[in-house]
Amino acid sequence: MAGDVRLEPVSERNLESLLSVAAAEADPTDVMPPVEAPAGWSQARREAFREFHRASFAGLPGPTRTRMYAVLAAGEVVGVIRMTRCAEPEAVETGLWLGRSARGRGIGAAALRELLHKAAAAGMRRVVAATTPDNRGALSVLTNCGARLREANGQVHAELSLDVTPKDH
Ligand SMILES: CC(C)(COP(=O)(O)OP(=O)(O)OC[C@H]1O[C@@H](n2cnc3c(N)ncnc32)[C@H](O)[C@@H]1OP(=O)(O)O)[C@@H](O)C(=O)NCCC(=O)NCCS
Repeated sequence: MAGDVRLEPVSERNLESLLSVAAAEADPTDVMPPVEAPAGWSQARREAFREFHRASFAGLPGPTRTRMYAVLAAGEVVGVIRMTRCAEPEAVETGLWLGRSARGRGIGAAALRELLHKAAAAGMRRVVAATTPDNRGALSVLTNCGARLREANGQVHAELSLDVTPKDH
């Protein structure tokens, strides 16, 4: 089961741990935008991973309008969850990934619940997400946290309202 799941802003303090987890236990396409670099976790892709996360160190008011959090389970860095300001006020978009060995234990749903608390604390009223219809893990996490799902153009759009405090269990 998920146990103790916490979020910690991504910073130089946890960036190398995150890169280690990503390189050992995730596909580049799950964790960062595409870059022109040799396939796999080449040195160029590792440096791009660092720069991609550094670009959001300033959080929601910064240039990427994104706050990224390292997901910690029992004190260990296991993945990332982010929120990005939408064009409309009081709304953020979320996305997350976990290393393979951390998947299937409820950590994704626990991380999203923590993110909902942080979004509410930042004054947000809606959290949205998009995934593909075949991503059963992501769809379960979203519905477990109370999302309403809508399918359009081959994508599933999820919406979570923060007017009701998210359930903790
Ligand atoms: C999507 C992801 C974050 C889900 O987190 P997770 O911690 O593994 O999810 P949970 O353990 O909370 O599982 C949620 C549910 O999905 C199910 N599930 C998880 N992975 C699954 C899979 N590959 N196939 C089928 N069901 C799966 C679990 O059994 C669980 O079911 P339940 O709600 O009936 O108990 C994680 O699998 C991941 O990092 N995937 C790669 C990146 C990715 O796809 N991110 C989402 C992009 S939108």
